[in-house]
Amino acid sequence: MQFFVDTADVDEIRDLASTGMVDGVTTNPSLIAKTGRHFRDVIKEICAVVSGPVSAEVTATDFETMLAEGQGLADLAPNIAVKVPLTWDGLKTCKALSDDGTAVNVTLCFSVNQALLAAKAGAAFISPFVGRLDDIGHDGMELIDEIREVYDNYPDLDTRILAASIRSPSHLRQAALSGADVATLPPGVLRQLVEHPLTSKGLDAFLADWKKTGQTILSEN
Ligand code: G3P
Repeated sequence: MQFFVDTADVDEIRDLASTGMVDGVTTNPSLIAKTGRHFRDVIKEICAVVSGPVSAEVTATDFETMLAEGQGLADLAPNIAVKVPLTWDGLKTCKALSDDGTAVNVTLCFSVNQALLAAKAGAAFISPFVGRLDDIGHDGMELIDEIREVYDNYPDLDTRILAASIRSPSHLRQAALSGADVATLPPGVLRQLVEHPLTSKGLDAFLADWKKTGQTILSEN
């Protein structure tokens, strides 16, 4: 399973990348707005830090402008995945860019039928939003299960399932069990994954016993 980090904070991405856990990055207009910086500068910096796919989202809503924006974004760096919304214009843009060899991430997916459309349009990634479905009382993880099952029914579809809107370690666990290819994690959730009370308790006990020996590993005494 690949981990993408869902942020436009370059310092955060740099720090997390040093753990070896970051296979790519996803951004969206809201995350870019939060930085207060220019979109293109932020995206170029992220692409220099991470060699895997970096999703950058178009903001137009009509096909012609979306396509022009997508082509402009793809020119910024070789590892750009252009993100388009799940609308007919977005799907047309996905088809045109994918036919041209550009990776496309189709975002704002909330149903298995939408995921099928994106796959037929040649998307490299489909982004089902798990947390936002939970927010309205649905079970977001059921959507991951359904998309996995449907894509597996049609092996000629090679779109990868990118579980998005992940809000907790439990979401990640379930996405992994459901066979999502990728999960995009907010930095805080990625950092939480290492934590377990028994790990901390066990380490404290080992260190307390070690201290009693008076030894240090790097000296002879
Ligand atoms: O990047 C898209 C996505 O992960 C958004 O998450 O928490 O705003 O629903 P959230």
